[in-house]
Amino acid sequence: MSTEINRRQFLGRAAVGGAVAGLGLTSAARAQSPNDQIVVGVLGAQRGAPLARNFAQQDNCVVKYVCDVDTNRADELAGALDELTGEAPNAVQDFRRVYDDPDVDAVVLALPVHWHALGSIMALQADKHVYVEKPCCHSPREGELLVEAARHYGKAVQMGNQRRSWPQLREGMQRMHEGDIGRVYYARCWYASTRGPINLGEEVDPPEHLDYEMWQGPAPRRPYVENLIHYNWHWFWHWGTGEAGNNGVHAIDLARWGLGADYPIRVSSAGGRHRFDDDQETPDTHVLTFDFPDDKTMMWECLSCNQPGLGGTGFGATFYGEDGSLVIEGGRAGGYTILDVEGREVETVDGPAADEPHVEDFLTAIRNDAPLDLHSKIEEGYKSSLLPLLGNISHRVGRSLTCGEYGRIEGDSEAESYWEREYEPGWEPEV
Ligand SMILES: NC(=O)c1ccc[n+]([C@@H]2O[C@H](COP(=O)([O-])OP(=O)(O)OC[C@H]3O[C@@H](n4cnc5c(N)ncnc54)[C@H](O)[C@@H]3O)[C@@H](O)[C@H]2O)c1
Repeated sequence: MSTEINRRQFLGRAAVGGAVAGLGLTSAARAQSPNDQIVVGVLGAQRGAPLARNFAQQDNCVVKYVCDVDTNRADELAGALDELTGEAPNAVQDFRRVYDDPDVDAVVLALPVHWHALGSIMALQADKHVYVEKPCCHSPREGELLVEAARHYGKAVQMGNQRRSWPQLREGMQRMHEGDIGRVYYARCWYASTRGPINLGEEVDPPEHLDYEMWQGPAPRRPYVENLIHYNWHWFWHWGTGEAGNNGVHAIDLARWGLGADYPIRVSSAGGRHRFDDDQETPDTHVLTFDFPDDKTMMWECLSCNQPGLGGTGFGATFYGEDGSLVIEGGRAGGYTILDVEGREVETVDGPAADEPHVEDFLTAIRNDAPLDLHSKIEEGYKSSLLPLLGNISHRVGRSLTCGEYGRIEGDSEAESYWEREYEPGWEPEV
């Protein structure tokens, strides 16, 4: 990869880059050698907090910025990192400070989902590598654009599907792909939790410490309501993707990985907001099914407001093959258990569950100037984000979807209209 070419590409593109062209991005490309320090900016200070700690503790890696439109959160995280490393990062409210700084090599995006694809594309155009949380996109179209941008700008782009880097899971998946339980044709995966209601929110003024305009960014403007920020945006279609796009992505990514499946040919949804009567639009009780080519099927079951999940646990995936099954679940979700066809345990392998290996994988790809050499390229992150998005579309139109090449919806113009979202004018992503 030539950083010269990327710089030229960036300049050429930035000149015609729509919303990005107006941002005055001035990053210069820097050659990376294995011993160079990697300078990181973290956007979003909630999920971003453990990630920032992780990056800050890696060898030769420094977190120069923490950025949050909520200044309370940015200041708190900067203080925590100061305590941890003895060096306070800059706490900023406007991410363009981070993107404009040529010292910054990589950005971590742990933002509300409506920001993920656009924020990542803009980072690529500012010559940064990108670690973006899951799901990587709010609509399928912007996920396609993100993949295109990753390849166009030649940087490392990784999603926060950290299980892809857990050593024992990698081993279990490899054994399954090599035939240890025979041909695998069905995966069942799940998530269960006991979330409470979000109540009925009133329109109020946003708090002083929050830049609500920048929080909304690419999403068409709506009044501020008291039960939206933080976190509850997950449960509104305008900003979030429901539990399917939230915790569902983790289990669905495992299931798709183990099955060796890419794009579905049929998608169905059942469920609703059954548990509480409040403002939440997305289902709390949700069952998605996916059929794939080559006789493969996947099911995801979600109980956002009740336990236990399948197998008596809150999270997991089970794979069924002709000669047995493989189970990843609950407190042992860092490892796996192999069962015979009668369901008798044959072997259990335990393993830790942590973010570090995924962060290390990302930094290694940057250091080696090998942006494609990741445990999970953004193409895989996108495919695993697409499945819940398709499930949500099926839910919203109230019928099953038939999908063709690249998972594109066929023969249903209403469902197809959800492929791309509407943007606040001036904030449309462009590659
Ligand atoms: N991989 C994992 O295990 C994991 C775990 C938790 C969350 N996540 C993902 O991380 C993302 C964030 O989740 P969360 O729980 O932190 O949500 P959150 O709403 O609590 O936090 C998001 C933060 O981003 C800030 N923000 C919004 N727009 C911004 C902007 N333009 N610039 C800077 N900051 C901005 C908000 O003020 C808020 O502090 C979600 O996509 C979620 O799915 C992943």
